[in-house]
Amino acid sequence: MYESGENMSESIKVLLPEEELDKRIRELGAQISEDFAGEEVLMVCILKGASFFACELAKRITVPMSIDFMATSSYGAGTVSSGEVKIKKDLDLSVEGKNVLIVEDIIDSGHTLHFLSELFSTRHAKSIKLCAMLDKPERREVDVTMDYVGFTIPDAFVVGYGLDYDQKYRNLPYIGVVELNG
Ligand code: IMP
Ligand code: MG
Repeated sequence: MYESGENMSESIKVLLPEEELDKRIRELGAQISEDFAGEEVLMVCILKGASFFACELAKRITVPMSIDFMATSSYGAGTVSSGEVKIKKDLDLSVEGKNVLIVEDIIDSGHTLHFLSELFSTRHAKSIKLCAMLDKPERREVDVTMDYVGFTIPDAFVVGYGLDYDQKYRNLPYIGVVELNG
């Protein structure tokens, strides 16, 4: 149990411990390496949330790859998606003719990944695959077909391993559920 330093009004209950995340990331890395055998991959990490997951995953991928970063926003400080996705930081590299692997922390409403796959297809990527560490299928508002998912989780707001609540908790080495105590 993690107690918030400021006012003790939130606590974090562990949902996925570090060992489980590590094991699953190794499996995903092996799967991706097998699926892309003989090809090269451009991993697109969606900042900030996916950065922890993307680094660990990249370390387990054995085909030639490059990595680039993009930042989008559809959330304010709250926990409900606005539905509108904006680019806050675009890629440095071109996706044209590349096998793009989009790496997200979590797929929730689906707006972010839907927006990004449309965008990269208009930029003429050779192929586009979607990977998320976590999936909350109950919350989907747009239909998105995922290629790789770490864990399917129930509808709860989670933090840790890159995921934040109001910019906090990204540094936790596990995934936890925020519990508000009054
Ligand atoms: P979507 O566009 O609704 O699929 O949301 C994707 C983005 O919402 C993710 O990249 C996260 O930044 C954020 N998000 C969704 N659910 C959670 C959560 O439970 N905890 C923290 N961030 C979340
Ligand atoms: Mg976020």
